[in-house]
Amino acid sequence: ALHVLSKPAEVTRITRALRAVGTKIVLVPTMGALHAGHRELIRRARNIPNTVVVTSIFVNPLQFGPNEDLDRYPRQLDTDLDACREERVEIVFTPEREDMYPPGSQVTVHSGPVGDELDGRVRKGHFDGVLTVVNKLFNIVRPDFALFGEKDYQQLVLIKRMVADLDMDTRVIGVPTVREPDGLALSSRNVYLSPSERESAVALSAALSAGAYAGRLGAAEVIKAAKEVLAAHPEVVVDYLELRAPDLGPAPEQGEARLLVAARVGTTRLIDNTGLRMG
Ligand code: PAJ
Repeated sequence: ALHVLSKPAEVTRITRALRAVGTKIVLVPTMGALHAGHRELIRRARNIPNTVVVTSIFVNPLQFGPNEDLDRYPRQLDTDLDACREERVEIVFTPEREDMYPPGSQVTVHSGPVGDELDGRVRKGHFDGVLTVVNKLFNIVRPDFALFGEKDYQQLVLIKRMVADLDMDTRVIGVPTVREPDGLALSSRNVYLSPSERESAVALSAALSAGAYAGRLGAAEVIKAAKEVLAAHPEVVVDYLELRAPDLGPAPEQGEARLLVAARVGTTRLIDNTGLRMG
C-alpha cells in the first residue's frame, strides 16, 4: 500500500527503521505533475533489488526566480498519487513549504561555477535552490540510491558534483530522457504550449539529432547542423546551444560529448540535450 507522509521527521523515522532491517532506500525526487518521464524513473527505481521506493513531490520555491512560473506550476496531487499507486511506490513524501523551510531557515548550498553557466545564466540562483532541496531530501530520506533524469542534464551533473564534493553517501543514477513520438522531451511544462507552439517545440530535439549526426565532422559542424534546424523555426527563440564535455567542461575533439539547448516558444522555456560522439 502507498504511504503518504508530509512530515520530514516521519519519513526519517520510517526510512531509518527500514534500513535497520537491511532494506535499501531509493529516492525519486519530483515536483509532481507526473508524466511518463517521472514514471520511467520510478520504474528504474523499483528494478533495483531489495529496495523501498520513496517519491517526493514538492514544488520547491527556492529554485524559482521572481519572474518564473512558481504560482502557475501545474499541481495535481490526487492524479500524482494515483500514478504512484499504479507504479507501486511504497512511500510518497509530500511536504508543505513550511515543513521544508520553516521560518528562520537560511543556510543554502552553493552550486559553484557550473551553476552559473548554461541554464544558470538566465536562471540566477536556480541550481543553488535545486541543490539545497536535494541536499535536504537526502538528509531526510538518507537514500542509498537517487534517480534523476538526463532531461535536466545540468541538474544531474551538479547533483553528482555535490555528492562527490560534499562526501554524500548516496549513489546518483541518471536515466535517459523519455520523449514523445516526434522527439519532444516530456516535461511538466509542455502543458503550457498552444497547439502551434507544440508543433514548433519539436525543433529542439530535431536540432539535437541533426547536431549529433554531425559529430564525426567536428564541433563547428555540430553547431551548424543544429542551428540550421532551429533557424527553420523562427518562433523558437534560442537561449543557448552549446557543445560540452559530459561533465560540462570544454567540448572534447574526440569521444563522448553533450549538446545542450534552451529556447523559448511563446512564453514557455524548454530545454533538451543529447549525448554524441565526436571525431
Ligand atoms: P521535475 O521537473 O519534476 O523532475 C523530476 C525528475 O524527473 C528529474 O530528475 C527530471 O530530470 C526527471 N525528468 C523530467 N522529465 C523527464 C523526461 N522526459 N525523461 C526522463 N526524466 C525526466 O527536476 C525537478 O523536478 C526538480 O528540480 C527536483 C530535482 C525535484 C528538485 O526540486
